[in-house]
Amino acid sequence: MPVIYEKEYKRYHIRGKSFSMVLAEYEMGDGSCVPLMRYYGSSLSRIPVEEGELLTERFRSFDTANAVLPFAVPTAGHGDFRPVQFEIIDGRGQNCTRLSLTGHGVIPGKKKLAGLPATYVEEEEEAQTLYLDLKDEKSGASVRVSYTLFEELDALAVSAEIRNDGGDGLILEQAGSVSLSLPQAVDFVHLHGAWAREFNLEKTGPMHGERTVRSMRGASGHQHNPFVALAVPGAAEQSGEVYGISLVYSGNFQITADQDAYDHTRVVAGINSQTFQWKLAPGESFQTPEAVLVYSDHGYGHLSQIYHELYKKRLCRGRYRDRCRPILVNNWEATYFAFNREKLLEIAGTAADLGIELFVLDDGWFGRRDDDSSSLGDWFVYEEKLPEGLLQVSDEIHKLGLKFGLWFEPEMISENSRLYENHPDWVLRADGYVMTPSRNQYILDLSRKEVQDYLIERVSRVLEENRIDYVKWDMNRNFAETGSASGIPSGELPHRYMLGVYRIMEVITGRHPDVLFEGCSGGGGRFDPGMLYYMPQIWTSDNSDAVSRLKIQYGASLVYPPGTMCSHVSAVPNHQVRRVTGLEIRGHVAMSGVFGYQLDFNRCTPKEREQIREQIKAAKQYREIVRTGKFTRLISPFSTGDCAWQFRTEKEILVFAFRILQQANVMPPQICLADLPLDAVWQDGEGQIYDSRYLMHHGLATHLSNPIEGERGDFQSQVFHLKKTGE
Ligand code: GLA
Repeated sequence: MPVIYEKEYKRYHIRGKSFSMVLAEYEMGDGSCVPLMRYYGSSLSRIPVEEGELLTERFRSFDTANAVLPFAVPTAGHGDFRPVQFEIIDGRGQNCTRLSLTGHGVIPGKKKLAGLPATYVEEEEEAQTLYLDLKDEKSGASVRVSYTLFEELDALAVSAEIRNDGGDGLILEQAGSVSLSLPQAVDFVHLHGAWAREFNLEKTGPMHGERTVRSMRGASGHQHNPFVALAVPGAAEQSGEVYGISLVYSGNFQITADQDAYDHTRVVAGINSQTFQWKLAPGESFQTPEAVLVYSDHGYGHLSQIYHELYKKRLCRGRYRDRCRPILVNNWEATYFAFNREKLLEIAGTAADLGIELFVLDDGWFGRRDDDSSSLGDWFVYEEKLPEGLLQVSDEIHKLGLKFGLWFEPEMISENSRLYENHPDWVLRADGYVMTPSRNQYILDLSRKEVQDYLIERVSRVLEENRIDYVKWDMNRNFAETGSASGIPSGELPHRYMLGVYRIMEVITGRHPDVLFEGCSGGGGRFDPGMLYYMPQIWTSDNSDAVSRLKIQYGASLVYPPGTMCSHVSAVPNHQVRRVTGLEIRGHVAMSGVFGYQLDFNRCTPKEREQIREQIKAAKQYREIVRTGKFTRLISPFSTGDCAWQFRTEKEILVFAFRILQQANVMPPQICLADLPLDAVWQDGEGQIYDSRYLMHHGLATHLSNPIEGERGDFQSQVFHLKKTGE
């Protein structure tokens, strides 16, 4: 039994394959009984009955038990000066919630979260859920915290539901998804960035006080991914203890880690409390988003592998979850807004000849959209640009043997649009204030059902009438003036907006199960687990430069499977950084994710086109290994001038190695592989045989330090494909 209640000791032991979490009942002096987080770490077979001296048993001036106990569900108002999970204001205006245990249970499987994306089970046996019921009798606030253990996948999903069981209205000032207590000081690792510069890995050592990553943008944002790893100092890729916290949420979030005066760490993760205030009438309830916790005692690499498996198998959904993804060409960087039917068919024709499988028509096909100043919301074909209509273009593309995909930005509205003329009140705006434009556009008020319904019907009509096989769902600005004509207060709007987005996505993806959906928000501005629940792949960054992408994809892989990261070969000089790199490295970087192109093949030389033909063949050969294989980071571009990573299935290994800047007079780098079955033997394309131990300890010899005469020296790459052999 992986989740056990030990009645004698009044404690709950959640025992995963490699971790244990122990929650123990604790009698407070005021008659309440609260759960403490007594242990979270490497899997235990025995738990000591007494912990020895509890923190509270020693005299401490100024700090009461409330300030030092490792509460599993900490609340405000009782002298716990660390970040709390819940702050609830009762009918008298007091915030002294004391959540006392009223019951618990263990159920097979996992329940759905109302209206929210979450990890799931297909069979009940895959998981067990421990729930703890807590209540504050004075205010009537009831909380059920659910801990779902995915036994085989070795992860823990946690969320909470708050109910108002009292007679007065309650106000939620803070409703976190999870709280963790660790009895040590830890490193804080997070992924920060900006538009076109996402997923930078940053690590800071232990420090007293709070460290927070968050968003107030109405989207998870490019700036901080909703993920934090806390590591016992010294942890590395293949060794050491690391704790991951990943939020299945795409809106305003916060993850705060606080190291107190006793060097203990409290972490609280969930909806951002600064932009949140929720009224809970008697009988109403509020469901928090889910947080996914992963523990690894084999370093960051193993942590990532657990997240990858869980997110690939039990977060992503739909027909494409387990299918290889079509290789696409997208016309955005090839034409931007300046295209017509002939131009599109010219690109598609060459694409089909080269082996491409999907043609994607990006921004500019609707309303009167010639630049980014108009038409968002008018999801009708731009007839002056495509006079024969969209269906005709779609048919022509299909006749070439390609699938046809279309770009949308459903959540947005341009002031210069028919939709705005007809429904000026459908925009998010604060009464009496000027709306702040961003990319010349505004955000639709998706907290309102009529706006959601309009989008569901309009987008569905376009998909149904035009034989659309793929949708790129973009979102290109963040919140300002968060108000609604329907009177929803600003404290509720960001979350109600997200619930609206999720409902629209649930209905549209459900109605069109054969369509492949790709998420996007100016690249990785909403690359989060919430989106992956609806869309199994996401455009990772608007930066398509191969060198920039090494860091972006390396950083993102800390949580997200490479098979969810869309990555394209684009033209040089690159449009974002003007760097000139060879086709080979551009191909190898893009093949490490969901592969595609974003250029006009007709502008390539015949030699380049032949190279592209070969590249597409290789990508088809490798894509299943990339999608399903175990991913291991080998060399970090954040700490060296090189980069390498490895994908491994039962029978194959694929290694990509990169040298960013060349050096004179150095030996060729050896790439040591990792995480191989010890007794296996492997063979490369030239018939060379390697023992796993040789590959891990001696490594593969590369040609990365030998630039070919007359060729570029910098930006070299090499791929190795090894197959398991019986010899
Ligand atoms: C965003 C996307 C791009 C492209 C443009 C179109 O920036 O990230 O890929 O679709 O919008 O306007």
